[in-house]
Parts: sequence; structure tokens; C-alpha cells
Amino acid sequence: MSRIAYVNGRYVPHRDAAVHIEDRGYQFSDGVYEVCEVRDGRLVDERRHMERLARSLGELRIPNPMTPKALSAVLHETVARNRVTNGIVYLQVTRGVARRDHAFPPEGTLPAVVVTARTIERWKGEREAVNGVTVVSYPENRWSRPDIKSVSLLGNVLAKQFAKEKGAREAWYVDRDGFVTEGSSSNAWIVTADNKVMTHGASNGILRGITRTVILDVMKAHNVTLDERPFTLEQAFAAKEAFVTAASQIVLPVISIDGRPVGDGKPGPIATALRRDFHNHAEFT
Ligand code: PDD
Repeated sequence: MSRIAYVNGRYVPHRDAAVHIEDRGYQFSDGVYEVCEVRDGRLVDERRHMERLARSLGELRIPNPMTPKALSAVLHETVARNRVTNGIVYLQVTRGVARRDHAFPPEGTLPAVVVTARTIERWKGEREAVNGVTVVSYPENRWSRPDIKSVSLLGNVLAKQFAKEKGAREAWYVDRDGFVTEGSSSNAWIVTADNKVMTHGASNGILRGITRTVILDVMKAHNVTLDERPFTLEQAFAAKEAFVTAASQIVLPVISIDGRPVGDGKPGPIATALRRDFHNHAEFT
């Protein structure tokens, strides 16, 4: 079955799907995106993802491409046309097509919208969660607004490639002050020796993950104590547990950081419990 993409108002097979060479997303990475988990054919936390999309667009002064209702219909239709039961749906909005010029294009330039969806077999994530994943540290290399979910991901690309070449699943960014900010495509968490869960505050220094937001609710339900503060690599080395969160991965326990085992080197009970209960706190549409 050929994959189908939504491109500026039309559903087209991937091989025929194309954007203009002067799309500002292509030339300036002048655009934003969202990734939503699809589970049992439904979108997970669509409302929160769309709220974050609106925020990202607003921060960059890109006009809203369509009404929330129309956008929701496109997301669901793309999932259905690709027969995705479990996987992800990807949405990208750029500032549109205009003659190359750094400053914003003329008023009235239409934003460009692309939506794709793909299957990710559920057992693959489950297997990773059971085995745990490894991370390596990497110096923060991004601009000062990673809170905007921009398609400008060059820093993240380099960090993830570094991790891959080290045989690790994820790179954890360490800022100039020695604090772990987040992963190259996930939020970063540790569990301290006294059972407090630490994660960087949702300031401008990280992306406020939707999975992160829901996990905070799950933690409350489990009476897990939150210490929402940046932690250092040294604290991470001494942690009982560590984990990462992202829409495409939910919660993945981290079993080693820079080659040092976390705790007993196995997925920890808190990360495992949070993962297990996540979808009871998420919204499905
Ligand atoms: N990544 N931090 C960064 C830098 C991310 O790229 C992501 C998500 C997250 C977690 O956000 P959320 O829980 O809303 O998925 C944190 C997506 C999945 C991606 O780029 O594919």
C-alpha cells in the first residue's frame, strides 16, 4: 500500500507529494511541527498538541493555517488513509512559499501544511521499554528557544547522530552550567536516591513535552514526589533510575548514561509504572 500524505489541501501518494523549492520551510527551516501518538486508531492528546502548535505558531508569528476542526479532520483522515492503528501522525506548518528573502514574506502569504502518518509496531516500543535504553551526554548546541517546536533541528540532528555513533538511543544535552536540559528528541528525567523525580523546569530552555505534562499527572496519581529542577550529569550518574519521555516513545527507562549503569542497570520500577499507567491519563480522540 502506498503511503498517503496531505499536502496543502490534497491527499497524494508520497511519490507524488512535493513542496515548492521556495517553501520557507525548505530554505530557512521557517516552520513548526507536531508529532502525535496514534494508538488503537485514535490520536493521543491531540488537544494538547494542537495547543502547543498554536503557541509555536504564535511565537513565530506564522498565521494559523486552518481552523482547529479542519486540522483535526485532516489529521484523522491521514491516519485513516494510511491505515495506521499504532504509530504516529506528523504535522508540519511552514510560513509558506515566497521569493527568498530572510524577512517575513508579504502579508497574505499562505502557510504550507503537510501531514504524514506511519505505523510503528507496538511491540517495538514495548521491547525497548523492557530492555531499557542507553544515553550519552552531549553539549547543548541549539538556539535559545527550544521551547518552540521548530523544524530547525540541526542541533538535534547532530546530537542524535552522535548518540547513534556511540551505540546509544538518545543524547542528553548538558548546558554551560553543567545541567541536563533534555534529550535530542525527548525530555530527560531521573529518580534520586530519596525517590524524588527530577526534570528540568519547562522554561525556555526545553520543549514542554506533552508526554511530560501527562506524566506529571500520572506522578500525582501515584504519589510520586516531583522536584522540578535541573539536575547535573553527576546527579544522573548517582540516580536510582532515569528515563526519557516523548510522544513516539511514551516512557523509556534509561539503563546507562555515558556507559555507566543507572541504579542496578535495569529498567526501574517508577519509570515502568509511569509507562504502564500513561494511557489512563491521556486523552483519546
Ligand atoms: N520529539 N524534547 C524534544 C527536543 C523533542 O523533540 C521532543 C519530541 C520532546 C518530547 O515532547 P512530546 O512529549 O510532546 O513528544 C522533548 C518528537 C517526538 C520528534 O521530534 O519526533
